[in-house]
Amino acid sequence: MRAADISDDISEVLLTEEQIHDKLAELATQVVADYDGREVVLVGVLKGAVMVMADFARHLPVHVSMDWMAVSSYGASTRSSGVVQIRKDLDTDITGKHVLIVEDIIDSGLTLSWLLENFASRGAASVEVLALLRKPDAMKVEVDCRYVGFDIPNDFVIGYGLDYAERYRNLRDVAVLAPHVYS
Ligand code: PRP
Repeated sequence: MRAADISDDISEVLLTEEQIHDKLAELATQVVADYDGREVVLVGVLKGAVMVMADFARHLPVHVSMDWMAVSSYGASTRSSGVVQIRKDLDTDITGKHVLIVEDIIDSGLTLSWLLENFASRGAASVEVLALLRKPDAMKVEVDCRYVGFDIPNDFVIGYGLDYAERYRNLRDVAVLAPHVYS
């Protein structure tokens, strides 16, 4: 689905599919140079990171393995405390491995900050983060994110994996959802 297919639902196209792909190619080049031959385990955080993972991984001209985690917060009150529940754990033992967490967006930063601590406690050799989007104005905790695609305003964004009520994940672009859709 392209933004033009749902133009009534969006107030602005923030990033086109082409801009996203160019950025992921650029980040892939950086990652290959930084890891310099060390094999990486890419860990995607379901569900939002599916598109980023699929496209970013295919830009890499080197071997990687891929794994997935699904996490969710316990509820509104605990979300602010950053407590998350593992709904699907890794299949891989990451002890001694170089892990690159792949995320669609860093909003408050709470999910990633919890994941970083959790992965470090499993004895990974290194843990870094790649996020396509980051909202600096929404961040509640500092997260050390080595690879960031785009810093964006604190708007309700959808597309390229990001949903509203499970819709819009299949939008190829990233767009700002029109307020009338959710209010
Ligand atoms: C989104 C996103 C990140 C998290 C970021 O996932 O994919 O994992 O929120 O938010 P935070 O920085 O405030 O912790 P969400 O919980 O919406 O699940 P989804 O990926 O399945 O849509």
